[in-house]
Amino acid sequence: MYKDYAEQYGDHVFFRDVNKDMPVIVRAQGIYLYDDKGKEYIDGCSGSQVTNIGHGVEEVAEAIGRQAKTVAFTHLSRFASVPIMRLAQQVAELAPPGLSRVYFVSGGSEAVEAAIKFARTYFLERDGADTKKHKIIARWHSYHGNTLGALSVTGHMPRRKKYDPMLVDFPHIPACYCYRCFAGKSQGSCNLDCANALEATILEHGAENIAAFMAEPFVGAASGAVPPAEGYWARIREICDKYDILLIADEVMTGFGRTGADFAVDHWGVVPDIISCAKGMSAGYAPLGAFIVKEDLFKVLQRGSGKFTHGHTYGGNPLAAAAGVAVLDYYKRHNLCENSRLMGERLFAALDPLEETSPIVGDVRGRGLFCGVEIVQDKASRKPFPPEMSIGEKLTLKCMDHGLVVYPGSGHADGRAGDHVLIGPPLTITAAEVDELARRFKAGLKDLEKELGY
Ligand SMILES: Cc1ncc(COP(=O)(O)O)c(C=O)c1O
Repeated sequence: MYKDYAEQYGDHVFFRDVNKDMPVIVRAQGIYLYDDKGKEYIDGCSGSQVTNIGHGVEEVAEAIGRQAKTVAFTHLSRFASVPIMRLAQQVAELAPPGLSRVYFVSGGSEAVEAAIKFARTYFLERDGADTKKHKIIARWHSYHGNTLGALSVTGHMPRRKKYDPMLVDFPHIPACYCYRCFAGKSQGSCNLDCANALEATILEHGAENIAAFMAEPFVGAASGAVPPAEGYWARIREICDKYDILLIADEVMTGFGRTGADFAVDHWGVVPDIISCAKGMSAGYAPLGAFIVKEDLFKVLQRGSGKFTHGHTYGGNPLAAAAGVAVLDYYKRHNLCENSRLMGERLFAALDPLEETSPIVGDVRGRGLFCGVEIVQDKASRKPFPPEMSIGEKLTLKCMDHGLVVYPGSGHADGRAGDHVLIGPPLTITAAEVDELARRFKAGLKDLEKELGY
């Protein structure tokens, strides 16, 4: 554990939970992590849906090493490099039709910040300095990042609460969350009230003030792989077009095969104007993110001032880009998107029955290798456990006892209560490994049920 090393290194690391002790990971291979005592864990959530190609891929390490020896850093305001050209080409090939310009940053929050600034920039370039279009509409129970701009679009109260007075006052509409529908309707018998709320909010604020609508195709960290209702994204696209509002799909978690499609919007054939992405693009081998934008929107900037007033020191650095190039080569060559789809089916076949067999599993949802399991105190009423009980965290610790790491989340039922865990192993996972993951998860869940007296 971390604290065992205090004599050697002192105690200087500032963790997110400063009173928690952590296992020390010393090695990783494939879907497995190993701590300093030799304990093995299945990386059942790929860190936070990051390590999509698995750990310890030699060819990626070699590509990074080669690039470090060639040129590790150049600044994007001064130079181009081959890795950024090649990576932008790979990303454009994977992206939906028309999205072929790639702006590089170092992670998901930066990708979101850059995307919303581009939305504003686009309207300034197109309509002139007097344009009022600046607001970004987003959804409750969403997560778009922790920097102040990204947190302003985020609709997850536990993450927003302390910083609320510091945030930009962007409008939020209800989540599309069929298990807890805000309108009290059920899937198949609704009018897509959650999508129509976008239109109502646009009218309330005035379309002339709105630059973009941002949403996650499957809600990740804030709600646990929540899928959209049938027809949701098509309706959202329609509303955005009607009111001249850009549609930004935040695919930081779902991009690059996580849900069994290169980008999750591909499931519905909906083409957004901008996609923010990160995580799976470099699969944890280097910090990397980007937004991808439609060429015709980019052209408006190119024909206008030509200047995008935004950037970070590490945006477009050759080292991270070389990692991304090697990762996406591997992703393509090993057909990982298809494996995500196939192994996802196997994972859901193993976990779906928990909705019937477990007294505390309320909902199993998601797609591909992106699976959320919502835990409830009472299945009939869908009542969540009190937030003080930290059920998601407890379930995670139980799973870790059995050598499985999952990713807990909370607050999605009412802004305070609501527990889920995300399961999203590397997309390289084999059938036997899926079975073992499911076995360990059920063992952890059983332990929790026992402790809770079910
Ligand atoms: C959908 C989404 N957007 C943005 C972010 C923020 O990314 P990062 O943690 O790399 O800043 C995340 C992180 O989990 C995410 O899931």
